[in-house]
Amino acid sequence: MWIRSSSAKARETVVLVVLSVLFGVGCVESTRARASSSNGTQPDSSQVLVSHHEVMVSMVNHGADPLWAAASQLPTDDGQWRVLERHAYQLKIAGALLSVPGRSSKDVQRAADPNWKRWSLQLSDAGGQAVEAIRSRDQEAISRAGDLIVDICQGCHMQFRSSAGGSAAR
Ligand code: HEC
Repeated sequence: MWIRSSSAKARETVVLVVLSVLFGVGCVESTRARASSSNGTQPDSSQVLVSHHEVMVSMVNHGADPLWAAASQLPTDDGQWRVLERHAYQLKIAGALLSVPGRSSKDVQRAADPNWKRWSLQLSDAGGQAVEAIRSRDQEAISRAGDLIVDICQGCHMQFRSSAGGSAAR
């Protein structure tokens, strides 16, 4: 399932568009929330208008698979390395997004729980470690970051995913 370099550019573009939409929306919303915070009707200015579920599917799961694959099969050209680095960034950014209240009331509740925040920020940190490992093209470190990330997925799922039905990362 490794990405061919011909599609790498397209994948990169999609990721960048997703990121700019997320952050564009987030910025507009927090400006709006700040502007009208005096009437107390707007959500917390740190709330992002995407759900934790959306972050999980589009960024966390999407970013983690290629990273785990790379632990046994490293990219073979610069383009593939760049794509892999972007995937690791997805995890770093997704962890940061999960640490603040998301769109649904469930998301707001979860983000208020210190354990949730801790798992989210651990994911962000581990994503950052993966970015560094990929930059130095260090397979050992990529594999270590991948293992750490599996533990974080499982730890948070065990505690917070009601329909866990098992211990797997997905
Ligand atoms: C901060 C806690 C947390 C972390 C870290 C986390 N998850 Fe999740 N994940 C959840 C929760 C909660 C749900 C259920 C979300 C919902 O549907 O509201 C979920 C759902 C999912 C789903 C199912 C989406 C669906 O369609 O139902 C997948 C796949 C998933 N996670 C993958 C991962 C992977 C892979 C990782 C690690 C790279 C990870 N998660 C890390 C909390 C987390």
